[in-house]
Amino acid sequence: MDFYNNVILPRLCHLAMRNRRLVPYRERVIGGAQGRVLEIGIGSGLNLSFYRAPVTDIVALEPAPALIAMARRSVHPPIRVSFIEGSVEAIPLDDHSIDTVVTTWTLCTIPQVATALGEMRRVLKPGGRLLFVEHGLAPDESVRRWQDRLTPAWACFSGGCHLNRPIRTIIERAGFRCERLETGYMPGPKPMTFIYEGSARPD
Ligand SMILES: C[S@@+](CC[C@H](N)C(=O)[O-])C[C@H]1O[C@@H](n2cnc3c(N)ncnc32)[C@H](O)[C@@H]1O
Repeated sequence: MDFYNNVILPRLCHLAMRNRRLVPYRERVIGGAQGRVLEIGIGSGLNLSFYRAPVTDIVALEPAPALIAMARRSVHPPIRVSFIEGSVEAIPLDDHSIDTVVTTWTLCTIPQVATALGEMRRVLKPGGRLLFVEHGLAPDESVRRWQDRLTPAWACFSGGCHLNRPIRTIIERAGFRCERLETGYMPGPKPMTFIYEGSARPD
């Protein structure tokens, strides 16, 4: 199981997340970033090529060493990227030290997601923003039933990914106010493809 989690899973994650259909989402979300950015669960670094000024520097937080190694190869100067091997449930950064927190397809997987969002809120400056694109709970009852049925098995081999997290609700319950939110299915199996894209500010 260790071999699967440490060697196979990071490579599967990289291959799955390279899906070209995700690129327009990445471009839009990363295009809103500014100042000092904290990217949560940066994975293999697939967002890195989209960062531009007014982003000044990026702190990349990721628990999987194999993914950090891949992400390091995607660093594009001149924006400085510093990597932290760790979990978002305990971000080793000062309060109010970050202008933008970015999360792309990570809230589905983070084990203690409410704690994680509380940490993101803690490190954000009062005027800072959380930018996100995530998959999660669908509005259609028939799709939700499949999301609930599939999640236990799906989580086992996908590194803990939940298909049925209510993304807007968990963001708002953590003390954020959504200022932009677009939702909808992208092409693909409906239980896996209901997308929440937007931005939120600490309340
Ligand atoms: C589906 S991948 C998405 C990777 C990347 N954000 C992207 O858009 O390509 C989920 C990521 O969340 C990370 N992750 C899982 N649990 C985490 C935690 N507790 N703290 C930070 N990142 C976590 C995984 O290691 C993985 O890189």
